[in-house]
Amino acid sequence: MSNMTIVGAQWGDEGKGKIVDLLTSEVDMVVRFQGGNNAGHTVIVDGTKYVLHVVPSGILHPGKMCIIGNGVVLDPESFLEEIDALQSLGLDVSPERLKISYKTHLILPYHRAIDGAREGKAKAKIGTTGRGIGPCYEDKKSRVGVRAGDLTDPEVLRAKIERALEEKNVLFTQLYGMPALDPQTVFDDLMAIAPRLVPYLADASSLIMEADAAGKSIMFEGAQGVMLDIDHGTYPFVTSSNVVCDNASIGSGVHAGMIDQRIAIVKAYTTRVGSGPFPTELFDDMGEFLRRQGGEYGATTGRPRRCGWLDLVVLREMIRLCDPTTMALTKVDVLSGLKEIKLCVAYEYEGKVMKYPPQTPRGLDNSKPVYEVLPGWDEDLSGCTDWDSLPRNCRRYIERIEELLGVKAGYISVGPDRNQTFRR
Ligand code: IMP
Repeated sequence: MSNMTIVGAQWGDEGKGKIVDLLTSEVDMVVRFQGGNNAGHTVIVDGTKYVLHVVPSGILHPGKMCIIGNGVVLDPESFLEEIDALQSLGLDVSPERLKISYKTHLILPYHRAIDGAREGKAKAKIGTTGRGIGPCYEDKKSRVGVRAGDLTDPEVLRAKIERALEEKNVLFTQLYGMPALDPQTVFDDLMAIAPRLVPYLADASSLIMEADAAGKSIMFEGAQGVMLDIDHGTYPFVTSSNVVCDNASIGSGVHAGMIDQRIAIVKAYTTRVGSGPFPTELFDDMGEFLRRQGGEYGATTGRPRRCGWLDLVVLREMIRLCDPTTMALTKVDVLSGLKEIKLCVAYEYEGKVMKYPPQTPRGLDNSKPVYEVLPGWDEDLSGCTDWDSLPRNCRRYIERIEELLGVKAGYISVGPDRNQTFRR
């Protein structure tokens, strides 16, 4: 059994949680390696809906080890709320099977406050989830961050909070017109919950390497999507971490050679939340159809998602960056009932036909999709359990995607339940 990375191929919300959940039965350990509680992975098992934000989706499978890696940013309060909610649904979320790296950075109240204040003031809003993700990663890069391991050393913790707030309180009071935060209060609040957090702390990278050496199989679970990658996405309308497959090793503390399979999760159409370019976005009834049929509302913020046709230019860029060994095509059932389905096969940009996104600052804003039109299908797909049971035109749509991308769709999902995804 090999080790694999799973990433979202578009702008997030591709249905990663569902595929991770399906493949968890084949692995021993699931590791989250980037992002934080900006993510919302929805998994439905036997009619019960689980929404996971920072806890790896592997937690839904008894006995599997779950790791929150160093590349994640963790909001301690929201983490405790999440594990309480999972526990109330009968899941084992004990420190015996869930670990947090000592090196994971903590999202503190001042990160959330900066995120909210900036978005409130900004003329060109990014449309962040408001969870303090960006400001926490900023502190990590500025080397003033607080790491989970600091919870074991109150003196160091207090000094770090005081240092971080020296600068931030100037921002709050002088730029954002907000009251200053009291370092002692932030420290006391954190120390009050530290006893619940500390048992989860571990040398995560050693645990993963030891599992690998013992022949166990590990899954690295990504969050968001490649077009939200801080370097390679639609900057500045991106998240603050690297989303591409190769960040799985950095965000977990293992070497890249340990990972031999890369699975890209592709939604059968495109969605995005927040601001930023989206060449195939639909502003008409068709967009509304996809939103309604697909239930396209954010799992974290409840915001309506922007919807559009599948964009193969975006997917080619993802393939160039991640080299997926296979794709999982999700939400194919949402397209049932359409006479025609459009597939964006290229962009027209400054009179040229582009197979990859133009890299100029406003390239995507000025790109027009070039569409190929395929026949749709009427049949309800929710009961399809294999390739042959899919309607002919649905198979044609999938085969055309594969042909144009040169990557196979090894998994196809036709509904939210665990048993509505099948292997090709
Ligand atoms: P942030 O990650 O909260 O800073 O938000 C930055 C951008 O990433 C915004 O456009 C968010 O809507 C988007 N984003 C963050 N997390 C997710 C996710 O899990 N799914 C989809 N979009 C996301």
